[in-house]
Order: sequence, then structure tokens, then C-alpha cells
Amino acid sequence: MHISENVSLREHNSFGFDISAEYFFSAKSLAEIQEVLQWRQKHNKPLLVLGGGSNTVFTRNVTGLVLHVAIDELTTDENENDINVHAGAGVNWHQLVKQTVFSGQYGLENLALIPGNAGAAPIQNIGAYGKELCDNLISVDVLHRETGETATLSNKECDFGYRHSLFKTPAGADFIVLGIHMRLSPQDKPVITYQALQNAMQNTPPTACEVFDQVCRLRQSKLPDPKVIGNAGSFFKNPVIPCQQVDALRKEYPDLPVYPHSEAECKLPAAWLIDRAGWKGHRSGDVGVHSQQALVLVNHGGGNGQQIAILADEIQKDVTQRYQIHLEREPTIY
Ligand code: EPU
Repeated sequence: MHISENVSLREHNSFGFDISAEYFFSAKSLAEIQEVLQWRQKHNKPLLVLGGGSNTVFTRNVTGLVLHVAIDELTTDENENDINVHAGAGVNWHQLVKQTVFSGQYGLENLALIPGNAGAAPIQNIGAYGKELCDNLISVDVLHRETGETATLSNKECDFGYRHSLFKTPAGADFIVLGIHMRLSPQDKPVITYQALQNAMQNTPPTACEVFDQVCRLRQSKLPDPKVIGNAGSFFKNPVIPCQQVDALRKEYPDLPVYPHSEAECKLPAAWLIDRAGWKGHRSGDVGVHSQQALVLVNHGGGNGQQIAILADEIQKDVTQRYQIHLEREPTIY
């Protein structure tokens, strides 16, 4: 086992920040993860687990060990009605979506082009265009970073919500995701409840492959490619607030889009709130707000994580002041 020292993480974070890890190890199997965790315990080093690095904002160099989970096995178990797919945590998410959809294994088409790896998908319960990972997820294989024990957590145990799961709470924060099990369907019946997707479709009902293509087109028209402009996708969650508060806001902003959430709560597009506050396309030095989607903060080249954190803070304060709504950040700030 070779643990590298002083490794640049520029290729391991989608903002492209050139910070370094004191120690770095990329593990291709459970056995390698167990071995490196023993090393870490023996040397008493802090641990940071990294997948595709598309949801972490690095504001400083990392002290201790960065464990890159790169288990990339993919297996399929098919019967007449169901297709069970198991993806290792290191499998690239978009490649997984593409491969399944074009092999007649349907269900993930709406989640095309989401950056990152399969292992990160359950952490924030990735979702887009009317579907969330939890709609197809059966279970998650995990390893406890302190005890070294492995377990399989059912969908229910993962306690999924909008951009939320057990893994985001203290009770789940010590689990390392090893892989995910999903149930896909041989039946080509895509979900097109998301209005913007429905409006964009030429054929109704469309095929899953057509939905996949359309989702790619929609995302490419609005969201910057992290390989070209560093970013972490949506930087803020869409806020969920009491419907009463929405009624009051609508008096001042009659065109405010509102999505139903629960009986007493509504979800608002954070992008709209930020856009209406004048931030879209804003630039402070080398960081800024994307010109096509106000929810995405970008690194134009020479920016750093501290500048992104400051910009995020300014946006949050302004949104609170204007609408009395607190925006919650989506990525983890390190
Ligand atoms: N809008 C604006 N200004 C903008 C962008 C959007 O006013 O700059 C308005 C639109 O007019 C629309 C509303 O905001 O009424 C919603 O916009 P959009 O359909 O683009 O979706 P979103 O709510 O901004 C969410 C997810 C995205 C996901 C899309 C599509 C969150 C935090 N974000 O964005 O997820 O792709 O829906 O389902 O829930 C990600 O997590 O990285 C991500 C991109």
C-alpha cells in the first residue's frame, strides 16, 4: 500500500482549487479501505473521505489523510420484472446513467449529467427533473470509519428527504459509502412530471432515451461544465417555508414561482430569489454567480474557496434581508 504525500487535489474537486492533501490514497476495494483506515488509526491522522469532489469547497489545505473511494465495480442482476444494479462508490454517476438507460434498464434517465460518483449520490439524495435517487434506491453498503464494521442500510434506514439523508446527520456522518443497490425497470415509462422537462419534450409519451437526451440538453444550456468553469452545481438548497409566508411574499412578488411541498409548506426556487436580488452574472474577482443559473457559484480561473465562501455569505445575507428567507448551503465547506 502506497500512501502519497503532499498531493494536489486540483483534479479532485470540481471548483478546480489547487489545494493539497498531506496524505492521499485512492482505494479500489473494501480491503484497501480497511488497510488504509488501520494506517490512519495507528498514525492518529484526521480523515477526509472524497468521492468525485463535486460537493466540497476547499478553503484550505487538508491536514491528515484524504481517502478517495474508487471502487468501480458494476454488476447487474435481472429477472422478468426487475433489474437490480449494484454500483461501487467510485463509479462515475453520469456514465452509470448512460450505460443503464441505453442498455434497456430504465429509471435513472432524469438524473443524467449530475456530476460526481455513485457513492456521493445517497449522501444528498441527488435529484433533478422530477426524480430523486431514493425513488430507485434499494440499499447502501457502508463501512463505519471508526469501528471498521460493514453494514447494508435499507432505503428507509437512510431517511431520505429533499437533498437530505441519514449521512448528513451525526448518526450517519461516520459511514463511508462503499456502493449502492438500485432497482431499475425493463419497462420504458419515464417520469416527465417536471414542467420544464415536459415542455421541452417533442414526443409524448417520450422514451427514456429521449428523456435522457433532453435532460442533457437542458442541463448543458444552463449549467456550466465543471471541466470548463469550476463549480459545484446548485450552491443552495431550494428553501422550504410555511405557505403562509409565501402568501405574504406573493403580495410583493406576484410572479414568484412556488412548488408544493407538504400540506403546510411550499418550496421556492432559490435561483429565482437570488436572480431577482440582482446577483445573476455577478463577479467578484475570479469568483462569481453563473450567468445562466443564479444557483451556481463559479470559479472563473484563479479563484479560491475562501472567496467562494465570502460570496455565498453575501448572497445569504442579502436574501435574508430581502425576503426573510434563510438559504441553506448545499456543498460541504472544508
Ligand atoms: N430561475 C430563475 N433564475 C435562474 C434560474 C432559475 O429565476 O437563474 C427560476 C426559473 O425560472 C424556474 C425556477 O427558478 O422558475 C427553477 O429553476 P430550475 O428548473 O432551473 O431548477 P432549480 O430549482 O433552480 C433544481 C435543482 C437542480 C436541478 C434542477 C432541475 C436544487 C437545489 N437544485 O434547480 O439541481 O438540476 O432543479 O430539476 O434543488 C444540483 O443539485 O446541482 C442541481 C443542478
